[in-house]
Amino acid sequence: MTLPMKTLLLLLVCCCNPASCCPVLCKCYISPRNTQVVCNNVPLTHFPEDIPSNTSSLTIQYTNLSAISEQQLSATPLLQELHLFNNNLSSLPADLFRGVPRLFSVALSDNQLDLLPANVFGHAPLRNLILKNNLISRVDADWFTGHSNITWLDLSGNRLTTLPTALFQKLHHLENLDLSHNHLEKIVAGALDPLISLERLTLEGNKLSTLDPSTFSRNLKLTHLFLLENRLETLPPTLFHGLPNLLHLSLDDNRLRHITPGLLDQLQSIEDDGLDLTVNPWVCDKKVEYLWRWLQKNPKKAFLADDIKCSSPDSLKERSVMSLTGSELGL
Ligand SMILES: *[C@@H]1O[C@H](CO)[C@@H](O)[C@H](O)[C@H]1NC(C)=O
Ligand SMILES: *[C@@H]1O[C@H](CO)[C@@H](O)[C@H](O)[C@H]1NC(C)=O
Ligand SMILES: *[C@@H]1O[C@H](CO)[C@@H](O)[C@H](O)[C@H]1NC(C)=O
Ligand SMILES: *[C@@H]1O[C@H](CO)[C@@H](O)[C@H](O)[C@H]1NC(C)=O
Repeated sequence: MTLPMKTLLLLLVCCCNPASCCPVLCKCYISPRNTQVVCNNVPLTHFPEDIPSNTSSLTIQYTNLSAISEQQLSATPLLQELHLFNNNLSSLPADLFRGVPRLFSVALSDNQLDLLPANVFGHAPLRNLILKNNLISRVDADWFTGHSNITWLDLSGNRLTTLPTALFQKLHHLENLDLSHNHLEKIVAGALDPLISLERLTLEGNKLSTLDPSTFSRNLKLTHLFLLENRLETLPPTLFHGLPNLLHLSLDDNRLRHITPGLLDQLQSIEDDGLDLTVNPWVCDKKVEYLWRWLQKNPKKAFLADDIKCSSPDSLKERSVMSLTGSELGL
């Protein structure tokens, strides 16, 4: 081998300019405005070396990465977005984000995370925090030091049995909260009160059976509320009063037999197809009158209105509530 060739080989293998090299199993997209590194579905078990020092977005997904350290991340101090989907992370060190002062978006979906240390998210100016599909059973208020500017928090697909009420005290800027597919059985009155900026709340796929009348009374900015796939049987009549911006409300796939008169009175802002009441065991006796009249008056607001069907009495089983006549209801 000639000397120049040897030098070239050496250069390729070991020493590249830290701003321009790319980890062996990854792809790097370099433009004057940002540097993006993507390691997708490759046999990594350790954090890759040689990540360009000015990387602003790092994605490591579908690998067996099982640990990450503060030191590794601080080699890319300009990092703004960190996506670590579908890896094998079971914990995070408390100082992980200390060396990345611009980091605003962190996604850790589909890992094995459970308990996280105090202040783990306190070091970076986070706006988006995605912790979907992990094993988290407890969320501590001290994940953040003081108030947080976080606007989007996704804790869906975890093992929460209670709401992280102490953490909510620090999240006045939160706009989008996803708690779907956990094991929540109730929402303590007042729990959601600190979330004054909340616009989207997803509680789908929990075990909620009742809700306190004041549950959403401080969440005046709510536009989308997802309560589907729970065990709701009755709802207090004023539950949705005072939500002037509500566009979408899903109550499908619950155990609702009747709508308490008054419940739908203040849903003026609901958009067309915005209210989902399907897949509930509606009882079509005299007490269905309130729902029946509401549907007649607002036929476009209900999603698949013809699919809001009676489950009893037998004589009306499978009939759409809207199609009933006054005499069938004994009115
Ligand atoms: C990062 O470094 C590379 C290589 O030196 C350069 O081409 C790119 O413009 C830099 N990007 C930023 C955002 O500074
Ligand atoms: C991760 O490890 C498992 C088990 O050792 C293996 O089957 C799988 O192919 C690895 N994944 C990747 C992306 O290398
Ligand atoms: C996942 O991480 C655990 C340790 O947390 C380790 O024992 C296991 O071997 C890792 N699995 C793979 C496939 O790398
Ligand atoms: C929240 O944002 C404000 C204004 O951008 C900033 O001054 C403050 O330091 C931020 N707080 C945190 C905890 O990131």
